[in-house]
Order: sequence, then structure tokens, then C-alpha cells
Amino acid sequence: MKRFGPVTAVRDISLTIGEGEVAGLLGPNGAGKSTTLHMLLGLITPDAGTVEMFGLELARHRVEVLSRINFAASYVDLPGALRVHEVLDAFARLYAVRHPGRRVAEMIELFELGAFRRRQVMALSSGQRTRVQLAKALLNAPRLLVLDEPTANLDPDAGDRIRGLLTGVARDSGSAMLITSHNMREVERMCDRIHFMSDGVIVAAGSARELAGHYGVDDLEEVFIKVARQNEPRRPVNEARPSLNEARPSLKEARP
Ligand SMILES: Nc1ncnc2c1ncn2[C@@H]1O[C@H](COP(=O)(O)OP(=O)(O)OP(=O)(O)O)[C@@H](O)[C@H]1O
Ligand SMILES: [Mg+2]
Repeated sequence: MKRFGPVTAVRDISLTIGEGEVAGLLGPNGAGKSTTLHMLLGLITPDAGTVEMFGLELARHRVEVLSRINFAASYVDLPGALRVHEVLDAFARLYAVRHPGRRVAEMIELFELGAFRRRQVMALSSGQRTRVQLAKALLNAPRLLVLDEPTANLDPDAGDRIRGLLTGVARDSGSAMLITSHNMREVERMCDRIHFMSDGVIVAAGSARELAGHYGVDDLEEVFIKVARQNEPRRPVNEARPSLNEARPSLKEARP
């Protein structure tokens, strides 16, 4: 459980992710997805309860657990003044990767970073930076790769390539992945199992097809809307959502 002041961001959550499985964590803005991921990564500690992965309690086996996972998110900055290959070298050493030079070269090839390996990270476009982030996140061959909206900055073509790459990595290396995304097509394509979060708890889980069947709709986008509306947190009366008409100021009024 994690609280931020009056807000309970995450209540009680349990997910099972098999080897090589890609799991999706979906839910409306503010549902508690990123907070959940940050607790798995030990970036924040729960106010109550414990975090367990691989059958180990994170607080008691921190190094052992964290050495088996890695993370990428568009909101995490890499050291901008360093060149791409320097960043990857530095992280490979930090992770104590066995053959750092070889591993960095593999990641540069996998994510097609050869053309910018000597460029400073700050001089990369956000899509290029995402590829560096993912290369960094795979350096230690994590058993669990945690990705918070990994393709949010990518153009459709780049996003499609990255999805293909990540799916291939999960299949070939057995790395499990836990992904958040607001792109329903992406989730349908990548995720073996989907967990819907709302107001700090998981309210539905299954494959995209199972969920669509269960809710009697055609696709995940419709499942999302249905689940989100069914589970909308009840607000106190004085915080009731204004009707659209009330909420929309008239353009005329807003003009100087
Ligand atoms: N550092 C923080 N301080 C205060 N409140 C926070 C903090 N981090 C998250 N929250 C609150 O906790 C709740 C869950 O936030 P979280 O970022 O986990 O949502 P999310 O599901 O990742 O949403 P999104 O889809 O918008 O990324 C929200 O109400 C948010 O405002
Ligand atoms: Mg988030």
C-alpha cells in the first residue's frame, strides 16, 4: 500500500508473470500504475505490506532482487553530456556485466544505435533516446524488464519496430516484461496477459481476447473504457465532476 498525503495511490496488488511473458498494466491516469512499478524497483517503499519478486522480499534481498530486474521510462533522464557508448559502458560496469564491451556492442547492434554511438545523449531525438534507454535496460539481461510507457515518444514506425524487438527479446531470452501503456493496439499486440488497475487495485485480468469476451465488446479499447467507467472512484459530493457544459468556458467569455 502506498499513500501520498490523502491519496491512496496503490492498495493491495499481486501479479504473476511467467518467464518470457509480457504482462500489461493498464488503467486510467492516476490509477497507480507508475507507483506500483516504482515500488517494484525499490524507488519508493510501501507504507504497509511488502514487495516480493522471485519469491524474495525486496526489502531483505535488495541487491539480489534488483540485479535481476531493470527499468526504462521516457521520464527518466540519462546523463546528457555523455556519448551513447559511454552511457552504455558506464551502466554495464555499474551492473557488473561479465563482458561489458561485448554486451554494449550487442545492444548497440540490437537497437540500431551504431550511427549515433559517438553522439551526446542530449543531442538525440526523444525516439533515439528511447532506444538508448531500452539498450541500457537490457544490459544486465534482466529476468524482469519493467517498462513505463516505453513507446510513448516514438513515431508509429519506430514504435512498431521497438514492439517487435521487445517481443523478440522476451521470446528468445526468456526475459519477462511488465509494461504500462495507453496504446491499446500495442498492448493487444505485445501482452500475453493484461491487468487492469483502477484506484489502486487490479479490477480485471486476462488476455485481450478473454477480456473482450468477458465484457462483450470487440477490442481492448472498448474493454478499457468499460472497465474504467465501471470502476470510476466515487468522489465526495463537493468534488463531483462538473458536467461538460459547466466545465467548458464559452470561447466568447475567454476572449480579451
Ligand atoms: N510523488 C507523488 N506525490 C504525491 N502524489 C503522487 C505522487 N506520485 C503519484 N501520486 C498520486 O498517486 C496517484 C497514482 O499516480 P500514478 O503516477 O501511479 O498513476 P498512473 O496510473 O501511473 O497514471 P498515468 O496513466 O497518468 O501515468 C495519483 O493520484 C497521483 O497524483
Ligand atoms: Mg504513470
